[in-house]
Amino acid sequence: MERFLTLGIETSCDETSAAVVLNGREVLSNVIYSQIDIHKRFGGVVPEVASRKHVEIISLIVEEAIKEAGIKFSDIDLIAPTYGPGLVGALLVGLSYAKGLSLSLKKPLIGVNHIEGHISANYIQHKYLEPPFLCLVVSGGHSHLVYIEDYDTYEIIGKTRDDAAGEAFDKIARALGLGYPGGPLIDKIARQGNEDAIDFPRAYLEEESFDFSFSGLKSAVLNYLNKMSMQGIEIKKEDVAASFQKSVVEVLANKTIRAAKLKKINKVALAGGVAANSRLRDELSLLCKKYGFEFYYPSIELCTDNAAMIAASGYYAYKKGRVSSLSINAYPNLKI
Ligand code: KG4
Ligand code: ZN
Repeated sequence: MERFLTLGIETSCDETSAAVVLNGREVLSNVIYSQIDIHKRFGGVVPEVASRKHVEIISLIVEEAIKEAGIKFSDIDLIAPTYGPGLVGALLVGLSYAKGLSLSLKKPLIGVNHIEGHISANYIQHKYLEPPFLCLVVSGGHSHLVYIEDYDTYEIIGKTRDDAAGEAFDKIARALGLGYPGGPLIDKIARQGNEDAIDFPRAYLEEESFDFSFSGLKSAVLNYLNKMSMQGIEIKKEDVAASFQKSVVEVLANKTIRAAKLKKINKVALAGGVAANSRLRDELSLLCKKYGFEFYYPSIELCTDNAAMIAASGYYAYKKGRVSSLSINAYPNLKI
């Protein structure tokens, strides 16, 4: 029986995370240190502060992941750090640490694409899920509809033309004075609101397009808030949050279902920080049931940034014959 241990390292944004994953699917440890409390007061992630915090605690986090997994450093078979996309200074911390470890342990290194990592969170959650399937990847930095033909073969069917879905959630939350990060806060207060209270626009773009656009919706919400404030009309934050959320969710869910039909694929998955959104999960679950599709999504912890998903992705890329050299660089705009 194979016993292959991958150490995943994730430092692309404001989470310092290290994980040990067995045979690409079984999480032995997944230590996540979130810097949210540090960045909250600035209303968003400050890149230099993030890099400095990563460099300060990366060794501790990795040691904790090794300890929690009940293994020794020498047991590791593969080291898998994120090498993009993300904040360059933040990425360099995890990547450089991984290079040093690879050199000293004489174990292979594989750079992992963060977006592929998000998709791979589904392999951990659903032990029998295998490609092909369709995945809607929605996070703070990305919104992609991806056809996963095989573990290392992806086709981008659609992507955002402007803001990412999570970015829109964060900006609207800030305008409503809810704080950072905004997604979970909008999700929470929207439950007390009327989602049909305000008719915000849905951007479906051209009829055949699977691309997304959230900047028009964002402007519409901001204009609405300005108008109400100029007229001295008090708004109900819960209604604004719920109506905005419905508008985002409807477009995401409908395009995903349409893409699954086009690709004649009956497995649909969700990934990325926004995949934690309860309204999006409910809507897609309902539509998948209606059309007879199987629906997969990761637990909340595996939706937001974590190193276990990075380890899973690294494992499958390595098994497909890919390996990185010690000269691998960080790529802030890396595509899948
Ligand atoms: O995947 P992630 O942790 O980081 C990136 O790779 O970007 O995603 C973070 C994003 C943030 O924009 C956050 O507001 C959003 O995911 N998010 C949510 C929810 N939980 C996190 N958005 C909507 N509803 C949620 N429940
Ligand atoms: Zn992410």
